[in-house]
Amino acid sequence: MNKRILATTVLFLSTFAWGLQQQGSQPPVPPSVPEKVGDEMCLVCHDTYTSVKRTPHASVECEACHGAGSLHVEAGGGMDLSFKNKDFSWVKDQCQDCHRQAPHLSNFSRSAHARAMVSCTSCHQAHPEQARAGMLTQAQKDLCASCHQASVAQFRKPFHHPVMEGAMTCSSCHTPHSEGQRRVAFGTEIECASCHTDKKGPFVFEHASLEVNGCEICHQPHGSVNPKMLTRSQVRLVCLRCHSASAGTAGSQPFAFHDLRSPRFRECTVCHRAIHGSNVSSSFLR
Ligand code: HEC
Ligand code: HEC
Ligand code: HEC
Ligand code: HEC
Ligand code: HEC
Ligand code: HEC
Ligand code: HEC
Ligand code: HEC
Ligand code: HEC
Ligand code: HEC
Repeated sequence: MNKRILATTVLFLSTFAWGLQQQGSQPPVPPSVPEKVGDEMCLVCHDTYTSVKRTPHASVECEACHGAGSLHVEAGGGMDLSFKNKDFSWVKDQCQDCHRQAPHLSNFSRSAHARAMVSCTSCHQAHPEQARAGMLTQAQKDLCASCHQASVAQFRKPFHHPVMEGAMTCSSCHTPHSEGQRRVAFGTEIECASCHTDKKGPFVFEHASLEVNGCEICHQPHGSVNPKMLTRSQVRLVCLRCHSASAGTAGSQPFAFHDLRSPRFRECTVCHRAIHGSNVSSSFLR
């Protein structure tokens, strides 16, 4: 609807300007608004573009995406219907004519990608040579890698989520359309727990750090050089960030019998096994 009004306005203005130039010489011709001509007509000249009919857009008319084509046909072609010479907003509006409803898509304009003007067609392909999940321009990990090399490199560290192995995708945790790009919620990390259900609780005895800081205070979400993708090289160092005598740490001090010079006490989770929460031990011993 907006597009039609816009198109009409543009046409009106250009006709008006033309009218001024031509004033007095000829009577102005009535402004022509492009009308739809139907897929059959487009395919007369563009018979190689039928691939769209093998995608989930099979029932979508050419002109629903490209715009009405009567003027284009009359002119015998031109760049007016092309995506190539259009800007980010034009493409977004064109696609969002239909794709505005899903909650994550209705937020698209506020996403980091939209703010950086990464267009729908940077990631999605309307006329794919080969069918791909989500109509992506390339396999998802290659697509994301084309712009986020540093993040992708983290999945090559010794301990990592199996994205490169194909067992999960970036979009298992991120939604590329929404604000903040995160599918994983802050704080409670509900989404980490959607796969790691045993870490979720509710527990009788919650480990407060988990609730307040989320999983990422102890784990690196993509990958790590440390076993269990921990943020520190040894379990003890993860814990002592909060459980030490130094000022400003959030947790209590371990009882005095914890002799940290002794190797026995360095592997905290050998004893505090239920570190994510427990229903029986307030000290997470089981
Ligand atoms: C009479 C033949 C003819 C018909 C019918 C026709 N086109 Fe075209 N179209 C052309 C020609 C020729 C070009 C190339 C223009 C150029 O390169 O400058 C073109 C260019 C295009 C482009 C841009 C191509 C590019 O390389 O960027 C698009 C998109 C397009 N047409 C879509 C359509 C759609 C959609 C329809 C139906 C509404 C349609 N065309 C109907 C002849 C036609
Ligand atoms: C879902 C929206 C959509 C539909 C439906 C669609 N196209 Fe396209 N078309 C695009 C987009 C987006 C591009 C730009 C290249 C890409 O992303 O694949 C494109 C590219 C083209 C091009 C090449 C010029 C360019 O802009 O790069 C032509 C020609 C074309 N389409 C014709 C057609 C014809 C003919 C039909 C109907 C049979 C059709 N398209 C249906 C979205 C669509
Ligand atoms: C006229 C309405 C319409 C327009 C315009 C439109 N789409 Fe769609 N799109 C659909 C329908 C219908 C489906 C299939 C049903 C569904 O999955 O919701 C679909 C499905 C999709 C899918 C899902 C593919 C899959 O594998 O599940 C993607 C991605 C997509 N569209 C992207 C786009 C992009 C990018 C544009 C703009 C170039 C666009 N669409 C323009 C109607 C539209
Ligand atoms: C940064 C890349 C990127 C951008 C930009 C992007 N998408 Fe997507 N889109 C994806 C990925 C990845 C998926 C998930 C595919 C899957 O599930 O395998 C997806 C899925 C979809 C789907 C299908 C399933 C769903 O979740 O509803 C639609 C429809 C869609 N996108 C439309 C759009 C539209 C419209 C735009 C522009 C307004 C857009 N996308 C911009 C990457 C992107
Ligand atoms: C065409 C390049 C491009 C592609 C493809 C792309 N991104 Fe992005 N992405 C960006 C840009 C630019 C930003 C915003 C600047 C920044 O934060 O790096 C961004 C931001 C992000 C952010 C937010 C970063 C932050 O600091 O908040 C995440 C998460 C993200 N992208 C994930 C993905 C995923 C997952 C994919 C694959 C489905 C993907 N991106 C594909 C260019 C891209
Ligand atoms: C297991 C869930 C998960 C998977 C899978 C995942 N991410 Fe992330 N990603 C996160 C979390 C959580 C953050 C936030 C990290 C933070 O805030 O400290 C993040 C942050 C990011 C950022 C912001 C910059 C940064 O490093 O903090 C980008 C960009 C990003 N991810 C891209 C990707 C790409 C690309 C993929 C796929 C190759 C991917 N992610 C797969 C969970 C995941
Ligand atoms: C889509 C499901 C999924 C989501 C979401 C997910 N993970 Fe994972 N996670 C896995 C899989 C699969 C593995 C690999 C298990 C294996 O190798 O045996 C794994 C492994 C791990 C490991 C290492 C386990 C080990 O024994 O070395 C940790 C730690 C972990 N995930 C934490 C997280 C965190 C933190 C988040 C949220 C940022 C998260 N996961 C989100 C599926 C998921
Ligand atoms: C207070 C720090 C801390 C927080 C917060 C935390 N973890 Fe852990 N997690 C650990 C430690 C330490 C280990 C290694 C335990 C060991 O040594 O066996 C571990 C191990 C794991 C493992 C692999 C071993 C197993 O038990 O399956 C997974 C998966 C995991 N955590 C997921 C999560 C998820 C999901 C969250 C958020 C809901 C989370 N963790 C929050 C410290 C933490
Ligand atoms: C981000 C800070 C943080 C990290 C990291 C952390 N904790 Fe905690 N932990 C807390 C807070 C806060 C509490 C609840 C307050 C308190 O100490 O009584 C708590 C409670 C505990 C308790 C129960 C104390 C009680 O009063 O009964 C134990 C045992 C514990 N943590 C062990 C560990 C171990 C072992 C690790 C390392 C794997 C660890 N914590 C990592 C913040 C943290
Ligand atoms: C040899 C087993 C063992 C090891 C190793 C161990 N602890 Fe403990 N820890 C205990 C026991 C037993 C308690 C007391 C439980 C009780 O009285 O309920 C305890 C209690 C605690 C408490 C609770 C203090 C309170 O106020 O209730 C904290 C915090 C704690 N340990 C942290 C750590 C940290 C950090 C490490 C690693 C540096 C660690 N523990 C290593 C056995 C161990």
